[in-house]
Amino acid sequence: MTKTISTQTKGLKGTLSIPGDKSVSHRALLLGAIALGTTEIKGLLEGEDVLCTAQALRKLGARIEKRSNGLWAVTGTDAFKEPESVLDMGNSGTGVRLLMGLLAAYPVTAKLTGDASLCSRPMKRITDPLSKTGAVFETTDGKLPITMTGSEKDVPFEYTLPVASAQVKSAVLLSGLRKKSPTVVYEPVACRDHTERMLKAFGADITVEKDRQGVNVITLRGGKKLTACPIVVPADISSAAFAIVAALITSDSEIVLPDIGINPLRTGILDVLLEMGADIAFENKREIAGEPVANLRVRSSSLKGVDVPAEKAPSMIDEYPILAVAAAFANGETRLNGLAELKVKESNRLQAIVDGLTRNGIDAEALPDDSIRIRGKGNKACGGGLIEANLDHRIAMSFMVMGMASESPVVIDDVSSVATSFPEFISLMNKAGANIHDYRD
Ligand code: S3P
Repeated sequence: MTKTISTQTKGLKGTLSIPGDKSVSHRALLLGAIALGTTEIKGLLEGEDVLCTAQALRKLGARIEKRSNGLWAVTGTDAFKEPESVLDMGNSGTGVRLLMGLLAAYPVTAKLTGDASLCSRPMKRITDPLSKTGAVFETTDGKLPITMTGSEKDVPFEYTLPVASAQVKSAVLLSGLRKKSPTVVYEPVACRDHTERMLKAFGADITVEKDRQGVNVITLRGGKKLTACPIVVPADISSAAFAIVAALITSDSEIVLPDIGINPLRTGILDVLLEMGADIAFENKREIAGEPVANLRVRSSSLKGVDVPAEKAPSMIDEYPILAVAAAFANGETRLNGLAELKVKESNRLQAIVDGLTRNGIDAEALPDDSIRIRGKGNKACGGGLIEANLDHRIAMSFMVMGMASESPVVIDDVSSVATSFPEFISLMNKAGANIHDYRD
């Protein structure tokens, strides 16, 4: 069995090129696949999740290729064709859920599946609203594999999001694209809005307003062909977070991360780290292709524990594992609140965080109200644990970062899932000065 060991390091240095945003990459492929003309995408994330989405869209009739200049070109198809084989979406919740939304409006039958992690995740949150639009789903237990048949029924659809989920919001909006009748999504708690921004860029008739209760009312008037447009994918703040925390908790470090997406609905992690005392500077803030970006300069910092309110969760939902590692090296107690959604990610992350920290000598506990309490140790000894990643890329990367600042090395049983979102993570971190290696035991 090959395992991976991350050993204490200091002085992380350099300019690290973080790969493209996963959420934006999926959406660029999906919208490009149904748009008139060829969409050119710069900076597409070439991780397994996104490549699975590309492969599924090819099977449905879109032309997707990487050009010699590094740009990806997506030529849309007028109408999806019935795929000849199963659409295997790998590890990707975003890929499968958004694709189900898009497919819901086409009269084709497709079977979708994924790896063991994806097949254990809830899909009813997608199939329930999409069933109301006329699509039909066959599933044994509300999970993948699912065989679905879309519908061209053109009726108005209104939906209030029961969970703060950009995947659910996006699936419903995408299902409305071919219908003349309006699709209205009520969003009581705002979550990432890349779909709304990109739909506008592709020429869709979409408006977002706030009602008197502060609920976002997103109205899509479909029935209009999307038009291809160039997309520049910002570097992924969710991937950058691993490098940021690595630089903060190791001594004598200073790194620069160019072109990081700082969409305000994604930057909760930066707000919280700054509150903990992190030295993070935003340089050259600007907007690229409808998304705000900045270069981030991060230096080693002495962190203090914080209380993170539940309202923060939608803007940093993927960053709790790495924030928990930062909290382990902070002085004082950290409380992370409102984490119910973490139980249905690539693994049960709420449990994985507590187990992983505990195995590395940190006093951490899951509380009955879906919060986590972590007693930070500052820079006192910790580490020495073996982590089971359970096909969860963010758990694997978080604990590799923990090893970088721990007195005793941290071992991960299987880091293969890292290829889903950040294939170059280990080489990039080692180039900056980390000490992460595979070994056979
Ligand atoms: C994503 C939304 C989030 C996030 C996921 C990407 C997206 O999931 O965890 O990694 O691209 O829409 P939920 O919508 O389930 O919260």
